Amino acid sequence: MQEQLVAKFKELFGADGEIRTYFAPGRVNMIGEHTDYNGGHVFPCALTIGTYGVVRKREDNRLRFYSMNFEKLGILESTLDDLKPDPAADWTNYPKGVIWAFGEKGMKITQGMDLLLFGNIPNGSGLSSSASVEVLTGYILKDFYGCDVTNQDIALIGQYSENKFNGVNCGIMDQFAIAMGKKGHAIFLDTATLEYTYAPIELKDAKIVISCSNKKRGLGDSKYNERRAECEKALEEIQQYVGISSLGDLNEEEFEKFKSAIKDEDRQKRARHAVYENQRTIKAVEALKNNDVEMFGKLMNESHVSLRDDYEVTGIELDTLAEEAWKVDGVIGSRMTGAGFGGCSVSIVKNDAVDTFIEQVGKAYKEKIGYAADFYVVEIGDGPTRLA
Ligand code: GLA
Repeated sequence: MQEQLVAKFKELFGADGEIRTYFAPGRVNMIGEHTDYNGGHVFPCALTIGTYGVVRKREDNRLRFYSMNFEKLGILESTLDDLKPDPAADWTNYPKGVIWAFGEKGMKITQGMDLLLFGNIPNGSGLSSSASVEVLTGYILKDFYGCDVTNQDIALIGQYSENKFNGVNCGIMDQFAIAMGKKGHAIFLDTATLEYTYAPIELKDAKIVISCSNKKRGLGDSKYNERRAECEKALEEIQQYVGISSLGDLNEEEFEKFKSAIKDEDRQKRARHAVYENQRTIKAVEALKNNDVEMFGKLMNESHVSLRDDYEVTGIELDTLAEEAWKVDGVIGSRMTGAGFGGCSVSIVKNDAVDTFIEQVGKAYKEKIGYAADFYVVEIGDGPTRLA
């Protein structure tokens, strides 16, 4: 595949100069959803699917981008003097945003680039194809352009670009999971402090299956920013009674004690999700440590119910995927993953039940929703890397 990408790059941009190839993964979050902007914990992992980039530095300030996933768009061009978000720039707003963000952080990029991308993450699936492009770009600026940053810096700069350049108030989870990914491990991250540990995911007789609803979503047009604002307001209301800095500071009992401070019923539900989901994530990682995969799965299921009933970010497609999964023998746990409103679910499925799972859930989904879902058995991979 890499050879094909390099051949296409040369065809489009010419063969001279030093050409390098990079890869950044996508991610799936096992549990801890909509907790990362509430000072809570998350438990994502990087995948072996992701974004490939073939790149060359330029002597001038031109930026030329091409994606093999959006060939109809052709080569999209801009310059380093013109780093502004632009709807016509389409997906290139992600690499442009990162180049801009490096400048904002004191690392002004003065040499342009030719960049060809190919991603094997299903678009709009909620497996963070955009964060993958952001981290890939950051990694190129580190490795090829010599910017003095760590992978954790790349995650933070990627999030900054998403917030400030692309206008989505996302938390740190996606960029962190991708930039800091480790094969065979999920990352238990405290988003309040950025302290993290790697937890091995040794499922032995089970696999991680991603079910893609094929309902397209983009974070920008979802209710993502609205949910975040609801949580911020709920926090302010609680802060009038107790000195906490985020909803992640509360455990279940404390929340029950202070919840009446939240003057709106919906807002109370949103905050309840943020608090309980954070506690569930802590318990889930503990369960995994004790080799209690069944408990981990049970907490995944509870996470989905909370996202459905309290946070209200699932929708009929994701509910159908999870609820049909729960009916299949050999499913240890299943829940929506990512922002919601479409995208994917993640399930832990016993090896000998995977085929039945795909068949049964696939059939029920098609009957109810009217179009097919796609299924992927995935592996946990490493963070960004240079391939050649
Ligand atoms: C998106 C955001 C993340 C996180 C999840 C929900 O993926 O980019 O920061 O908030 O939604 O858990």
